[in-house]
Amino acid sequence: MVKNFKMIAKTLYGLEEILAQELRKLGASGIEIGTRNVAFEGDAGFMYKANLCCRTAIKILKPITSFNVFTEDDVYKKVYAIPWENYMDVDGSLAVDATVFSKQFTHSKYIALKTKDAIVDRFRDNEGRRPDVDLDHPTLRINIHIDRNICTISLDSSGASLHKRGYKTASTMAPINEVLASGMIMLSGWNGQCDFLDPMCGGGTILTEAAMIACNIPPNLNREEFGFENWPDFDVDLYELIENAALKKIKEFHFKILGYDNDAYVLDKAKENIKSANLQEFISVKKQDFFESEKETESPMFIVFNPPYDERLQVDAEKLYASIGTTLKHKYPGTQAWMITSNMEALKHVGLRPSRKIRLYNGKLESKFVRYEMYEGSKKAKKQ
Ligand SMILES: C[S@@+](CC[C@H](N)C(=O)[O-])C[C@H]1O[C@@H](n2cnc3c(N)ncnc32)[C@H](O)[C@@H]1O
Repeated sequence: MVKNFKMIAKTLYGLEEILAQELRKLGASGIEIGTRNVAFEGDAGFMYKANLCCRTAIKILKPITSFNVFTEDDVYKKVYAIPWENYMDVDGSLAVDATVFSKQFTHSKYIALKTKDAIVDRFRDNEGRRPDVDLDHPTLRINIHIDRNICTISLDSSGASLHKRGYKTASTMAPINEVLASGMIMLSGWNGQCDFLDPMCGGGTILTEAAMIACNIPPNLNREEFGFENWPDFDVDLYELIENAALKKIKEFHFKILGYDNDAYVLDKAKENIKSANLQEFISVKKQDFFESEKETESPMFIVFNPPYDERLQVDAEKLYASIGTTLKHKYPGTQAWMITSNMEALKHVGLRPSRKIRLYNGKLESKFVRYEMYEGSKKAKKQ
């Protein structure tokens, strides 16, 4: 009989509902939405599928036990008591991530250290040898989460964060996180039903995520490895079955995905990334100043972008944002434009009234993801 278990998908602030929708669509049960996470239930095959197919998850954790802790010594003793030999071999390596929300425990790094000590001491006491610590490529990544006095120990089935899709070979200044890019496109409501433009595309993250959404390509198809592949119970045949089933759901896409940037160097990087994702067929990029561009077709279009914020890229943000407003208003009729920024002062200079505002975080920067709707002709004419 297939056994379901509880899992926690971690995500970015503001993407919880979108992630829950993704999980529901993939077939998860028992979905509960939290802050920056969604709990759900499924079996091992579903855990593989969630890692492969969720665009807005950063990690899929599998909790193995929960207990109360009141002191750091409690943490050590209770972690020591877990039969770690069932989850990894002494010749393997481990890494521990800790998240702590508690008055009693304030240093997450110290909790991670105590957890690691307890695990290696258990191996040394039982086998006379201990596993190594490898923070970058461990055989087993473990997560310890303390919420007040409740401590949950989970295995990290993803390993490295799921935003590392595996297609980004070229790095640029101020790239957007892949999970955030995907979440923004899904929040915008674009699902491949019309043309799409990122007019300040940088390294092409938004374009690449858009093409994968439009064609229903699993976002982590190009990834080198998932954490669960090193687990003793990894079922490679089941994984291949899941992967083949996902590949069968890839669909055709008949519209255009366009990217502009006025920096030729950055555009070369975008081309490299798009090629490495094998999506050249669906995406065209060109050197173009957005402010000198106009909509290339008469059909409806979605724009999703992250302009410079003046944080990492030095720009005259107020002037730039005013030009964004003017360009959208005069050159892009019949367009729904969404942009993310943390520069609230500059945002006022766009001069258009946003029809939606969503709070998101771009890294540590609190940001707004705003929508401007440019109608074909005047709004009044549209209503008549
Ligand atoms: C924050 S970055 C975009 C990063 C991108 N989303 C990524 O993931 O790599 C902003 C980009 O806007 C471009 N840019 C600035 N002004 C522009 C303009 N007037 N027309 C086109 N691109 C512009 C910059 O060259 C830069 O690559």
